Amino acid sequence: MMHHSFFQASTSGRKAPWLLLLLCVGLLWQTAAAQEIKSPNANLTLTFALQADGVPTYRLTYKGREVIKPSKLGLELKNAPALTSGFAVAGTKQATFNETWQPVWGEVKTIRNHYNELAVTLTQAATQRTLLVRFRVFDDGLGLRYEFPRQPKLDYFTIKEERTQFALAGDHKAFWLPGDYDTQEYSTVTSNLSEIRGKMKAATTPNASQTPFSATGVQTPLMLKSKDGLYINIHEAALIDYSAMHLELDDQSFVLTSHLTPDAVGDKGLIQTPANSPWRTVIVSDKAGDILESKLVLNLNEPTKFKDVSWIKPVKYVGVWWEMITGKSTWSYTNQENIKLDSIDYSKVKPNGTHGANNAHVKEYIDFAAKHGFDAVLVEGWNTGWEDWFGKHKDYVFDFVTPYPDFDVVELNRYAASKNVRIIMHHETSGSVRNYERHLDSAFQFMNKYGYNAVKTGYVGDIVPLGHHHYDQWVNNHYQYVLEKAAEHKIMVNGHEAVRPTGLARTFPNLIGNEAARGTEYEAFGGNNADHTTILPFTRLIGGPMDYTPGIFQTKVSAYNPQNTSFVHSTLARQLALYVTMYSPLQMAADLPETYNQHLDAFQFIKDVAVDWDDTKVLEAEPGDYITYARKAKGKTSWFVGSTCDEQGRTSKINLSFLDPSKKYVATVYADAKNAHYEKNPQAYAIRKMNVTSKSKLSQYCAPGGGYAISIMEAGAAR
Ligand code: NOJ
Ligand code: CA
Repeated sequence: MMHHSFFQASTSGRKAPWLLLLLCVGLLWQTAAAQEIKSPNANLTLTFALQADGVPTYRLTYKGREVIKPSKLGLELKNAPALTSGFAVAGTKQATFNETWQPVWGEVKTIRNHYNELAVTLTQAATQRTLLVRFRVFDDGLGLRYEFPRQPKLDYFTIKEERTQFALAGDHKAFWLPGDYDTQEYSTVTSNLSEIRGKMKAATTPNASQTPFSATGVQTPLMLKSKDGLYINIHEAALIDYSAMHLELDDQSFVLTSHLTPDAVGDKGLIQTPANSPWRTVIVSDKAGDILESKLVLNLNEPTKFKDVSWIKPVKYVGVWWEMITGKSTWSYTNQENIKLDSIDYSKVKPNGTHGANNAHVKEYIDFAAKHGFDAVLVEGWNTGWEDWFGKHKDYVFDFVTPYPDFDVVELNRYAASKNVRIIMHHETSGSVRNYERHLDSAFQFMNKYGYNAVKTGYVGDIVPLGHHHYDQWVNNHYQYVLEKAAEHKIMVNGHEAVRPTGLARTFPNLIGNEAARGTEYEAFGGNNADHTTILPFTRLIGGPMDYTPGIFQTKVSAYNPQNTSFVHSTLARQLALYVTMYSPLQMAADLPETYNQHLDAFQFIKDVAVDWDDTKVLEAEPGDYITYARKAKGKTSWFVGSTCDEQGRTSKINLSFLDPSKKYVATVYADAKNAHYEKNPQAYAIRKMNVTSKSKLSQYCAPGGGYAISIMEAGAAR
């Protein structure tokens, strides 16, 4: 499955005992020349250098242009001297790595992992401590991380703050979210870096419940564009046993500095050596599409150790969900609030008549899924506790094994199985990590017993134990624990409100989805910006797939709930495009069956579109403006194209040269009608069929807030 070639390019490591090392320090101090490595294609150059006071720095250029100006590295520790200065270079090692590997699921069948590496061993003579900085330079960017070898003077330590700088070359255009320890569900702001401070307040109102940590702090992935057209993306990879990184901007110098999520007592991480930090990543290109095609974040994660991955499968699903989000039905079974849940006898209380997850209704969804070839039905609100899920006693609200009286877990799973459909489990924890861990074993045993193979988790609200944050080390370890426990039970996980992904799905391919950004649900809570989905692939999706839950055809939420005046900021045709532009092995058709039944012609695209791919090409892209992807279905000859544009509308011009030149195809184009508009006329679409080959060119109009989707099937081939 994998072939490697690993060869050492050069070695200058010193394996000297401490005494000898100390003797050498003076000499090394003066002679520590800058170390330089290039990307395999030589476009990128990474330079490591020690400043005069022994401060480690790095610099990154792309085709001779400054991406990261000399930037400091290091960490401050609690109750211990900082690991930021007074270093000497004790040794350096260079290596080259070149392999290809095949993901269990993905955007492409085969991924190339090719980089040049520089590992710098630093010693701090005054404290007799050693720190290693490892750099990997790929054709598409840089990864760097700290390594803390096991050593007498650095066995346990507490991080006060990581001080990794990213000194930018100018006042770049930024696609940013407020830096927040507990929510990633803000609207993205597009502005110059120098404007962040002025826009921060507006950026956090009206929908965010939390508070940013400063006036210039932002989240990653952070997408940047320089005035001279360099696209730069900063994020992290392999976030394990560490706090999630934010970036604090100095808006005079345009230096970004890492800012880790604090725990309940303000600490930023407890480390026992040997240990590594996550990778800090900088993806760079002069072509926007290269950022989208980069596999750097995945490549910086470890290969999976799972021996059997046959139980991990991409999933296309429908669900008892949008009806609750819009307010048409409810998660809860009764209208009582603030009830003491452990004393309630549900068979005695009056049902509210709006409970969505009832037997008859769930069967309708199962029938609909079976009829149209979906793999699964998500059912939320199946279990007791929703009456009080935000209450004071949320630590005890859910036990994840007790269904409401009108949800027959045995019968519904039997019924689903008889139709070759699975029910997706839902575990809303209401942020009580402690309560979830208390019940995790029995919850997963329950799933195994009744035939569930996937769970959607949720962490709405403050974390319990109180004071912890959604992205601190302790809570990140919880998400990791759930993922690993789930794997023991052969369960796939889709985490909502959990920490943003950092490519961990390479190592743990049962992590088939995450939310970790503002998803479709916000179209029912006031709406998403019309350009939202032209930005997300450049930001949130750099870390991994998103359960965005597209496919809303009834764009007026009031059609389901007269009290809800929200509308979907997208045309219907663009909702189809999102299955291609928002990569995920887990895709929902989020609207209600009654609505799909009125638009079966457009619904056909959702039925046809693949969720796993052999190949992916970005045909056009500009963050905040438009994105056009073409993807080839895994193991098939069919291709799917998706294009979204912002509120301006545009004409997309593509050629189909990605098609096999020896084949003839039939294309079905699902597009905005001439008079479509995301606010004024979102449901106006037109479908046309035509014969195409690899020589075909297409010019296709996208309405304001619109888009188009194309299925391209080999002529004469079965669907
Ligand atoms: C927020 C999630 O994003 C949404 O999908 C879910 O339905 C609710 N929490 C309730 O768990
Ligand atoms: Ca959410």
